[in-house]
Amino acid sequence: MSDLTSYSHLKQMLRQVTILKELSRIDEYNYIARLLDFYWAQAASDSYYALIVMEFVEGRTLKNFIEDANNKTLELSSEMVNKIIFNLLSAVNFIHQANVLHRDIKPDNIIINDNLEITLVDFGLARTSPDPEAIKELAKETPISKKDKKAMGNMLNDQREERKSRRRDLSPHI
Ligand SMILES: Nc1ncnc2c1ncn2[C@@H]1O[C@H](COP(=O)(O)OP(=O)(O)O)[C@@H](O)[C@H]1O
Ligand SMILES: [Mg+2]
Repeated sequence: MSDLTSYSHLKQMLRQVTILKELSRIDEYNYIARLLDFYWAQAASDSYYALIVMEFVEGRTLKNFIEDANNKTLELSSEMVNKIIFNLLSAVNFIHQANVLHRDIKPDNIIINDNLEITLVDFGLARTSPDPEAIKELAKETPISKKDKKAMGNMLNDQREERKSRRRDLSPHI
């Protein structure tokens, strides 16, 4: 993405880059598209060139996927839906654990691959939470039965092993 932009927009991009840099460092399971590089330069008094280089994620948007399911080009089973929702919640949980709020989660900003794995993109509106404890408390309050927790735990382990074995071999430069 290349852009001629204002100071306030540049500041917003810097916030995005800081968040992506930290998430890229700790993301073991490819829940986000990794940040590779960031460049900026002043062009005029309130005009800046800015360039964010991201890892390219294979797949397509969830929006496109849902459109195909709606017009029956793609057959969607309930197992597939379960897996997609589970993977999406795992990705959101990952960024929340890192105290990041995406604030623009929608099918357009979600990439899904052939294994139904989810990657979140577009952290343009993301913020860190002013109160990290609030997110943790909310998670604790969610009423989940022991049986469901165990089933979710097993599913999480399986998915993590699967994802880890396919981990994209890329290390962020910054
Ligand atoms: N890292 C990526 N790898 C592959 N495709 C991407 C990646 N980031 C974004 N895209 C695609 O580009 C589209 C636009 O990018 P996005 O970051 O959402 O910008 P915006 O919504 O501000 O135009 C996304 O909906 C997605 O289809
Ligand atoms: Mg977007």
